[in-house]
Amino acid sequence: MLLERFRMQTEMMEAPDEPTKADASSEDMPILEFSGTIDPVVDIPNEAEILIYSKDQSYLTHGIHRFPAKFFPELPRYLIEKYSDSRQVVLDPMCGSGTVALEAMLMERLAVGIDIDPIAQLITRVKTTPIDPEILMLASTWLIETIQERYLTAGYEPDIPRFNYQDNWFHSFVIKELAIIRSTISDLPNSPLGNAISSEEQVDITNFFKIIFSSIIRDVSNADPHCTRTVIRQNLQRSILPGNTIGRFRENLEKQIDSMIEFAKVCSQLQFKEVRLPQSRAEDTGLDSDSIALAVTSPPYINAVDYPRTHQLEMYWLGLAGDEPLSKMKREYIGTETVYKKEYRSLRVSGLSALDPLLEAIFDKDPRRSFIVFKFFCDMKMQLQEMIRVLRPGARYCLAIGNNVIRGVPIPSQEVLGELATSDEVGFELEKIFFSGLIRHFIKIPRKERMRGEWVLILRKPQ
Ligand SMILES: C[S@@+](CC[C@H](N)C(=O)[O-])C[C@H]1O[C@@H](n2cnc3c(N)ncnc32)[C@H](O)[C@@H]1O
Repeated sequence: MLLERFRMQTEMMEAPDEPTKADASSEDMPILEFSGTIDPVVDIPNEAEILIYSKDQSYLTHGIHRFPAKFFPELPRYLIEKYSDSRQVVLDPMCGSGTVALEAMLMERLAVGIDIDPIAQLITRVKTTPIDPEILMLASTWLIETIQERYLTAGYEPDIPRFNYQDNWFHSFVIKELAIIRSTISDLPNSPLGNAISSEEQVDITNFFKIIFSSIIRDVSNADPHCTRTVIRQNLQRSILPGNTIGRFRENLEKQIDSMIEFAKVCSQLQFKEVRLPQSRAEDTGLDSDSIALAVTSPPYINAVDYPRTHQLEMYWLGLAGDEPLSKMKREYIGTETVYKKEYRSLRVSGLSALDPLLEAIFDKDPRRSFIVFKFFCDMKMQLQEMIRVLRPGARYCLAIGNNVIRGVPIPSQEVLGELATSDEVGFELEKIFFSGLIRHFIKIPRKERMRGEWVLILRKPQ
């Protein structure tokens, strides 16, 4: 019955567009609708479909920076409250913009967030680091005044980071304004205020400014704002005039200062507050065995978001791209599309009954895509094995996964992951699965291949 329903859902997924009640539910299973926070006493039935009307997408620091396929805070909030207790360790091994880490922190759990992406790491750090409001106001006033002064000083030449196709991505006056903002942020430690605060405070405030800086880069570039990937559109109707870049930075800063002050106030009332952001990866976290009370995550979608490419402009400006070519970095991500020809010359199979016929069907049309799908599930197998190692016996791993269509072949990722997670090589029990309708994400995928929601698998490590 469960598998039949999975298949039925997968077929329906091929139809384009946003979720509607009729799309994803069967007659005998009404959609459960939630407006805002879901009470943790609610037991979402196995196979149910839920629809959350999010009220909190920009609550406190949640809205500080856009991120592809971000969680609505309400879903992780519910899972954290339902499946963990205060002061227990809650992990998101692919934390993206840190939605789970922030929610776990606000619920007085010890939040652990891991992500391979440097922009994701920085957003998560800033989102979960309260800053003293008084110092923040002083630093922001100094920053804005100094940027303005430098902008108006004829002959002021800021340091400009060099990267490929820079002049295609940005107008020359935008480059200069971005460079002024960037160099002023990095001068904060040498300012009179910088000298009066601790080095830890300097780092926290500088990171906060860097994230506000990062949040405007795409908007002032020549890249298509509606496309997740960073691509230039010749006919882009966007007019950026001299002075707009600095103006936009100031606007965003003012808005996010208010959010940060509110966040700091909430944090000051927490009885317990601890966040750890280790530099590791989801398949090899470096965390102790049996140490985690709950893990909640949403892995990348297969074939949907190329994170290094999406964040390339921000990484160049923030000096986070490193010296290696982007393609080398891309290969490290789960769900990567950067694969070698020799890897997909022949059909690769997984031994999973839910996956192998699909790999074969895709291989007939596109061997490379078939290998990308195969690799995604191989990487996820290692990730699941790592989770069963670090979770305490009896603890849950809540995994939200969207399924999609590759070269016309529907991929029921939830079904494949269910089979993988419960295989002898991994060892989870599948406690339940439900479908969470998706309202809107900052993500642009071809209409036919668009996901209309996510499956949430509640996996349990045996006692
Ligand atoms: C769908 S996003 C997570 C979004 C997140 N739930 C949020 O609310 O912002 C998936 C994340 O997985 C990360 N990722 C991909 N491969 C990884 C790996 N090997 N280790 C850790 N993180 C990885 C990506 O960088 C991306 O940030």
